[in-house]
Amino acid sequence: MNEKKSVLIGITGGIAAYKIATLVRLFKKAHWNVIVAMTKNAMEFITPLTFETLSGNPVITDSFERSLPVYGSMEHISLADSIDVFVCAPATGNIIAKAAAGLADDILSTTILALKKETPKIICPAMNVRMYENPATRDNLETLKKRGFIIIEPDAGELACGVEGKGRLPREEVIFAVTERETSGKALSGKKIIVTSGATVESIDPVRYITNHSSGKMGLAVAEECWRLGADVLLISGRDAVPSLTVPQERVTGASEMKEAVLRRLKEKGADLVVMTAAVADYTPEKTESRKIKKGEGGLTLSLKRTPDIISEIKKTSQVPVIGFAAESDNVVEYAREKLKKKGLSLIVANDITQKEGGFRSDFNHCYFVSMEETRELKRMSKRDIAGHLAGEIVLLFNRGR
Ligand code: C5P
Repeated sequence: MNEKKSVLIGITGGIAAYKIATLVRLFKKAHWNVIVAMTKNAMEFITPLTFETLSGNPVITDSFERSLPVYGSMEHISLADSIDVFVCAPATGNIIAKAAAGLADDILSTTILALKKETPKIICPAMNVRMYENPATRDNLETLKKRGFIIIEPDAGELACGVEGKGRLPREEVIFAVTERETSGKALSGKKIIVTSGATVESIDPVRYITNHSSGKMGLAVAEECWRLGADVLLISGRDAVPSLTVPQERVTGASEMKEAVLRRLKEKGADLVVMTAAVADYTPEKTESRKIKKGEGGLTLSLKRTPDIISEIKKTSQVPVIGFAAESDNVVEYAREKLKKKGLSLIVANDITQKEGGFRSDFNHCYFVSMEETRELKRMSKRDIAGHLAGEIVLLFNRGR
């Protein structure tokens, strides 16, 4: 289990305040210590009791109204000293203005002023679009950014006040993920990583296609774990692969399109590593019919041709290290080692697809990390945990200079 980290969540008076109940639960599920501070206006939207119950800690409301501070006699200082990260969500225009000006007229703004320089400070603005776009708010957010605050941009959509625009609090999962990233130590900071995920789709005609059972869950877990550790990640995913809430994702359909997307990214931005998690089709129809093939009485024979091998294409033009994945039903480790050598991979993750629980679409897997030096077996565990172990190998790979 991770070392217990402490987050101070400052809630201000916006309608999105109710969403923070879900955010607190996400932190608690991941074994964080959660302390909540609320402004007077926030308490008009939701009661401190909700957060006291969910966090298991007393909620800080106002410094002057309570006779006994619970987090020390100089509450704002002791609080600021004890936490690993500060999150303000939802952050109103008012608290943003106060933080930018250095005002300290209640316990939350006072604590913000007392936060240590090195404590990550995350601000999640949520308000009416006109208030958000007001030059005063824009300038205040710029000031905070310059001082090292991390601003999670609000989502666009229908706002509580009935208008459409930018101003919605981002999903709780996104706020949680950004907080995890900011406190992870960022062992992959500065590294550019391309991860592919999911199945490719090879069209037979406008209606039918050939694909496979890959869901994209493993690639998603790898991409998000590398992102959590501070890497600059692009996820290139098959059309139906599971989406990411945090990592930028480019969608492709067939194997050729995936190859083009990977090579384009390598050319335009470069990469320090490519992780080929995608289940790329090995064959595609010789010809994609532009009109639907009419069904007849008898059978139908499809003529297939090989797709480009993306890893070989990468290796033709780039020295970038590549991690591959392999799905095998026999001699799993032996075949994986052959593939490792043949494809010039730095590491290959071999899955035994005959295992009953795990594999395609499952959240679990049983796999082997095979490199030139060693083979490491990872007994059944979640794909998220496998991604955690793989990210550890990636850090070592970079430390060894590939
Ligand atoms: O040879 P095999 O398809 O089993 O190798 C699997 C690895 O190769 C995976 O990492 C997969 O993403 C990659 N691959 C590829 N291009 C293909 C087929 C698979 O890069 N056409």
